[in-house]
Amino acid sequence: MTTTHSIPASLGYFVIGARDLAAWRAFAEDLVGMQAEPLGDGLALRLDQQAQRFIVEPGEEDDLRAVGWLYDTEAALEAAIAQAREHGATPEAGSAALCRARGVERLARLVDPNGIAHELHFGPRYAPHDAPFRSRCLRGGFVAGALGAGHYVAVTADHDATARFYRETLGLRVSDYIRGEVAPGGPVLEATFLHAATGRHHSVAYAVGPTHKRVHHLMVEYTEMRDVGLAHERCLAAGVPLMMGLGQHPNDGMFSFYAVTPSGFGLEIGWGGVVVDDADWQVRSYTRLSDWGHHPPHA
Ligand SMILES: [Fe+2]
Repeated sequence: MTTTHSIPASLGYFVIGARDLAAWRAFAEDLVGMQAEPLGDGLALRLDQQAQRFIVEPGEEDDLRAVGWLYDTEAALEAAIAQAREHGATPEAGSAALCRARGVERLARLVDPNGIAHELHFGPRYAPHDAPFRSRCLRGGFVAGALGAGHYVAVTADHDATARFYRETLGLRVSDYIRGEVAPGGPVLEATFLHAATGRHHSVAYAVGPTHKRVHHLMVEYTEMRDVGLAHERCLAAGVPLMMGLGQHPNDGMFSFYAVTPSGFGLEIGWGGVVVDDADWQVRSYTRLSDWGHHPPHA
């Protein structure tokens, strides 16, 4: 019998293992509008006042290595660790060196059935007030703060183990489902979207599919719609390949396009995502991935 009901506050950060750090820095700073700082032999990318929202480490895999789940207090982190143990996971305490590298006071690490490490943590490091977030190219900024860094879509071969991990071990709540054909007459994609306590429509979604990466894409959200159009223009001008063109999703309402990152997975760049209020939220099931657009570039 489970006694704990713990849910993370938000998705605090992403950790990526990448071959070409210089390409990542240029992509993040000049096209997406993040703020880059060196971090050890890698990169820390800011979206807001939190010091590290994307951590890009040197690595051969070009994939998502880890995500950080934020808890507001140490007591909430303790409850999350207890809940993970109740579901058979064995979170390991992060060393002082790992906590320093991640910019958090304390973390516990567990690896999910798809090879993504989850770093449950509290006490993220913030940049000083006289070092406000600055973007080279955005007119506005990023929707981050209490809603967290963004979202990611995990691709899995084992739906049930993945569902148990996200819903029971981590305690995330279902926002909705999409079961739809990727293209007319094509394979049907079944995706489950989950939110954390502060309510970004989804901090993670998972879908069964063939993949050579752990993720289909990560997502960051802008505060201004025009920045999505401007980023789209910058990507076209720079010759960055697009995974999908401009479009809008029926469930989170996100207006977005998908660029291919230097690591080969996608980065959805969006605006206008829904925030879930658990007091009156109704879980729905949708039959289309997009209301309009999001076409692959050759379509
Ligand atoms: Fe997305």
